[in-house]
Amino acid sequence: MNRTHHNGILRMEHVGQEVELVGWVAKRRNFGSINFIDLRDRSGIVQLVVNHDEYPIVQELKNEYVVSVKGLVRERQDKNAKLATGDIEVDVKEVTIINKAAQTPMIIADETDALEDTRLKYRYLDLRRPVMQERLIKRAAIVSEMRKTLDNMGFIDVETPMLTKSTPEGAREYLVPSRVHEGEFYALAQSPQIFKQLLMIGGMERYYQVARCFRDEDLRADRQLDFTQVDIEASFLDQNQFMDIIETIVDDVMINVMHEEKHEIPKIKFVDALNYYGSDKPDLRFEMKLIDFAPIFAQSEFKVFSDTLENGGVLKGLVLKGHAETLTRKVTDKYTDLVKKYGLKGLVALKYEEAGFSGSAAKFISEAEQAQMVETLGLEFGDAIFIGSGEWELTCTAIGALRLQLAKDYNLIPENKFAYCWVVDFPMFEMEDGVIIARHHPFTAPVQEHVAFLDERPLDVIAQAYDLVLNGFEVAGGSMRIYQQELQEKMFEIIGFTPEEIQRRFGFFVDAFKYGTPPHGGIAFGLDRYAMALTHSETIRDVIAFPKNASARCPLTNAPSPAVDKQLKELHLEIVKSSHEE
Ligand code: AMO
Repeated sequence: MNRTHHNGILRMEHVGQEVELVGWVAKRRNFGSINFIDLRDRSGIVQLVVNHDEYPIVQELKNEYVVSVKGLVRERQDKNAKLATGDIEVDVKEVTIINKAAQTPMIIADETDALEDTRLKYRYLDLRRPVMQERLIKRAAIVSEMRKTLDNMGFIDVETPMLTKSTPEGAREYLVPSRVHEGEFYALAQSPQIFKQLLMIGGMERYYQVARCFRDEDLRADRQLDFTQVDIEASFLDQNQFMDIIETIVDDVMINVMHEEKHEIPKIKFVDALNYYGSDKPDLRFEMKLIDFAPIFAQSEFKVFSDTLENGGVLKGLVLKGHAETLTRKVTDKYTDLVKKYGLKGLVALKYEEAGFSGSAAKFISEAEQAQMVETLGLEFGDAIFIGSGEWELTCTAIGALRLQLAKDYNLIPENKFAYCWVVDFPMFEMEDGVIIARHHPFTAPVQEHVAFLDERPLDVIAQAYDLVLNGFEVAGGSMRIYQQELQEKMFEIIGFTPEEIQRRFGFFVDAFKYGTPPHGGIAFGLDRYAMALTHSETIRDVIAFPKNASARCPLTNAPSPAVDKQLKELHLEIVKSSHEE
């Protein structure tokens, strides 16, 4: 094999050159004695022209056969503007079949109707699709650029263990039984969090790692069980200095990999993100901000609204410009069901048309309120209004979900746009099922002025935490860390660990704080999620070579699968069938 060129790069400038090419047969068509073959390799497709009277072997070629050819590049008569190599073709002088291929269970082309599980079962074939190759190549370019920028800024790539000890990062962990130590388990790292902080205590000053992380979570379009972080930590920098470093990384990726202009990254406070976009990861590709309807309905006689306001709740809503005529009962029911999933009791949907306001709750809205709505919201005939009422965060979140759904249904999101933002000033804690938990993780530092009221009013404490959001996805999250031992112990206490538990689970960590811990902070990019957002992919699975499917299985290898008895014995494990009747 003496390949002279990659197929996808051939252009008019190669006309007249003898070339030797290799690749897969993507398609073969017959026109009399002439055969047209699309030959595919990683770089793209080129058209081959073969006369089967001269080269009868060409008749044997089927899709996905691996071949090598020799030939002459010539200008095409009917050019194909859709193909990068569409100005030329290769007049073939020699064909060799390198390997045959069975009929594939799926079509190998950008457009495929194969079910996702078929694509995952035959992932090696799915990966031959140009669109999948482009995504993986883009992902590689992104991580390579990030490494370059980090290397240039003096960050040192250090690996940390995957088999480690349980850490409190919020997700359920994978446990790995120890063969040597009966009844004891390693945990698979949810992230390198504790180790990267220990590296700061260890004087490394600037660390990064492209790290696999493992979380036993329910899967969603942007989550996997094992995923990759570009994990970063630095000492002796404050929050803004650190965020500047991260912006340099983003700039380099946007400019050098995405070939875009430098992107501004506005900083939005957590409360504003919820108030205006109904999400702590706002999608800023389109406007349509949430509106506070409380001032308009301050004196409302509509019991749903007045009760909510009396109980300290909020009225949040949206105006959908135009489209009122599309709001049939069925459509509004769909949106009501959506906000109910987020915990709202219902949704007020109004249409504003020549005949005035209509909709289920229109009769409860006074004329004065109607006039005020028209004026303050600048309503025009044809606009639709949605209002939800209830507790602040829940209502914002539900209406935020509606905002995204409306954007999808009414095509409000411009294609190929990138909109970044930082979300900052997160609360330190939140309540979950009546107990107080850390919103980020318990190593996050509170803002200095709030340390004083950590005990009395923990829910009012703001954290030095920041998330980087791209197109509505949280692509990175981080914080400045606590670096005083007493404060770290207090944090653990507030979230309900007893001193004994702290010692047993994190003793090694809090002990380390005694020996001169530098101020430090960091972040982790979810590389898969970042690549997904940058390639406008629909799921995270499209930027991962061998992902698990939505039900946490790998259709290719069939993992997970039962262990054999010998293995179980060695690991001192016994499977007890769970009985749901018990
Ligand atoms: P966090 O838990 O926010 O922070 O994770 C950082 C980023 O990792 C990505 N991510 C995931 N991607 C795919 N599948 C998952 N299951 C998944 N979970 C998280 C997200 C997220 O923003 N140690 C801290 C970072 C720090 O404080 O420095 C951490 O892991 O893009």
